[in-house]
Amino acid sequence: MSATPRTPIPLGLDEPLPMTLPRLADKRRLHEPIVMVTAYDHPSARVAEQAGVDVVLVGDSGAMTVLGHPSTIPVTIEEMLMLAAAVRRGLRAPLLVVDLPFGSYEASDELAITTAQRFVKQAGCDAVKLERGGTSAQRARAIVDAGIPVMGHVGLTPQTATALGGYRAQGRTAERALAVAREALELERAGCFAIVLEAVPAPVATAITQRSSVPVIGIGAGAGTDGQVLVLHDLLGIHDGHVARFAKRFADIRAQMVAGVAQYAAEVRERTFPGPEHCYSIDERELEAFLAGLP
Ligand code: KIV
Repeated sequence: MSATPRTPIPLGLDEPLPMTLPRLADKRRLHEPIVMVTAYDHPSARVAEQAGVDVVLVGDSGAMTVLGHPSTIPVTIEEMLMLAAAVRRGLRAPLLVVDLPFGSYEASDELAITTAQRFVKQAGCDAVKLERGGTSAQRARAIVDAGIPVMGHVGLTPQTATALGGYRAQGRTAERALAVAREALELERAGCFAIVLEAVPAPVATAITQRSSVPVIGIGAGAGTDGQVLVLHDLLGIHDGHVARFAKRFADIRAQMVAGVAQYAAEVRERTFPGPEHCYSIDERELEAFLAGLP
């Protein structure tokens, strides 16, 4: 597959500057909340761009939101590459981060570097994200040393949800909260430029954020983090399944989609669509000649 370079069109004077790692760090220093959202295709990337978000994540949540799997586990590198390349083509200013899918980085530093390089080279991603501390922190270090920025992810880590007891809040005892804090620190020390903190009590997330030297972006982690991330399909109401309690719905797009398609179906069945305004014309004589020439 060939590389998908960043959009070559020059930025206009009134367009936002491309997001960079130093600009993200500045945002934390200046206490400007960082806005991150997921996207999985070209139209959703255009929406994120136009809405002015700072960071776009091609999350492995796409396994569920757009590929219909019950968890993030089955999504492949090839599927994520296709989603990421489509998002890349729709983005200019936001930083583009992609999730390294389950099984694509854990086994060795070499595997982690090779997979990360594919996402940068073939899909034009700016950075990759991986889950957990421990050996994952070691993989993060290897990828960073290979010149690719890494975002960490601790707390509820969906790729290992089974080991965590399911999709549930993490860090609700002192011992478990300290374990989450330790993992965040490991990732920070490994060179991660930012850390996602998912589904932990707000005071725990605030304390971890205050002790961090890199931006901490929360999801289900309260208002004391440096920024927030949400899954696009949750915040727009495109889902018809279960949605986590931390995912506020800012729109009800699915209802509008169903209503739109139902209206289309009704008009086709009533023969009121297409109307004359949706049809192409042909010169009368050309039509007569065509009809005469028909076998
Ligand atoms: O895959 C994803 O969408 C994520 C976010 C929840 C941070 O990892």
